[in-house]
Amino acid sequence: MGSSRRIAVLGSGYVGLTVAAGLAFMRHEVVCSDIAESKIDQLSSGIVSIVEDGLTELVLEMVAKGRLKFTSSNLEAVSDAEFVFLCLPTPQGRDGSPDLSATIAVAREIGPHLARNSIVINKSTVPVGTAHKVRDIMNRPDVDVVSNPEFLSEGSAVLDFLQPDRIVIGSDSRENGLRVAELYGDPTDHKCIVTDTLSAELIKYACNAYLATRLTFINTIAELCEAVGADIRTVAAGMGTDHRIGTAFLNSGPGWGGSCFPKDTEALIHMAETVGCDIALVKTVIRANAGHTERIVEKVAAAVGGNVAGKVVAVWGLAFKAGTNDLRNSPAVKIVTSLQERGATVRAYDPAIEKDSLDGVELVHFKEDACVGADVLLVATEWPDFSLVDLATIGELMSHRSIVDARNVIEVEDALNAGFDYVGVGVGRSNTIRLLNLEAGEGGAQ
Ligand code: UDX
Repeated sequence: MGSSRRIAVLGSGYVGLTVAAGLAFMRHEVVCSDIAESKIDQLSSGIVSIVEDGLTELVLEMVAKGRLKFTSSNLEAVSDAEFVFLCLPTPQGRDGSPDLSATIAVAREIGPHLARNSIVINKSTVPVGTAHKVRDIMNRPDVDVVSNPEFLSEGSAVLDFLQPDRIVIGSDSRENGLRVAELYGDPTDHKCIVTDTLSAELIKYACNAYLATRLTFINTIAELCEAVGADIRTVAAGMGTDHRIGTAFLNSGPGWGGSCFPKDTEALIHMAETVGCDIALVKTVIRANAGHTERIVEKVAAAVGGNVAGKVVAVWGLAFKAGTNDLRNSPAVKIVTSLQERGATVRAYDPAIEKDSLDGVELVHFKEDACVGADVLLVATEWPDFSLVDLATIGELMSHRSIVDARNVIEVEDALNAGFDYVGVGVGRSNTIRLLNLEAGEGGAQ
């Protein structure tokens, strides 16, 4: 581990706070700032409102050790910092490109106040060329701007930060790139990729677009599984054993969502277009993904006889994935909205979502309560305890025993044994029989 450095982290969202606490854990002196005073007040009194495994404990421990402090003044945070991390929001703008106004505003604000020879490090996902733009705005020849994109997944951000697959550092000065690498330990001793700023910025987008493409691929194969009677879980496992493919990110589901993939794929397309490249593949992936989410709505409709109007749909899970309370671009929320537009009554349960946080949706405190009188149960987020329920009891609460499992978390046999009709994603009800039928010439397949 290198020596302790004075670091400012601007932005206290899940990325900023994780980075701040993680760097403090690495024995640096960290000041984390946010313009939202209420957030800083909460953090200063030990309240971490972000649901992120291990984050509260880490923040409290680092504060207690005196290595992590909070302020609502960016200028106070940067005043004697040797390194300044920008962990600022880059929401999607109207044309699909990221809205860089927060980054630009902060660059303008802090530029004149940065310590001599300090390094500004961009963690946020920003278009290729942003490091250069920030450098121009700050107009500080002695200050370098380095790209160090985050690869933190919501729900496992702390672990991802402390045990990264790799650390990507883009700098136009190799010396400064290595200075940043040293913050994470001995640069020769860990998985540091030190490259130029443009490549580092593009690595982040390429990763997210690739992962989104991979998920859309597996969801497309899941569709095919349903058509031929194969089981996507076996197909994915069979694919994953090929070391060139690997097992991660092959779970079929209701389409990908969240705060990053939708925004980053759109941003990549926009960025490519500005330099005359048409990334048709990624456009197709986005379109197909919307179709995969809509397919779940169709499955729910089919499960209640074709029309959801007047039907009660119990929904388990609203967050875009398990382990987070984030509803941004959640497939579950899109499905719920579509069901409501078609006249369904939705009653939802999610262990991480506060009551009343979703307009027009009745949120209940227990998963059983969502099921009372329901015509169908939709499992939309893969919270682990959804697979542990006693389905016989759940069935007794419902008007009809029907499950649409958009995450394949319920054991098919358990559902069938408890008298449920079960529909998963790429999971045939009786694959063997269907295949035998195909062999016998059903549907002209021979
Ligand atoms: C993503 C990237 O993984 C992370 O590196 C980046 O920094 C931020 O964006 P995150 O948005 O937290 O992280 O979610 P992630 O775990 O990647 O999942 C994205 C979407 O894919 C979710 O909707 C999730 O449900 C879906 N998913 C993921 C699947 O449907 N199947 C899988 O096997 C994995």
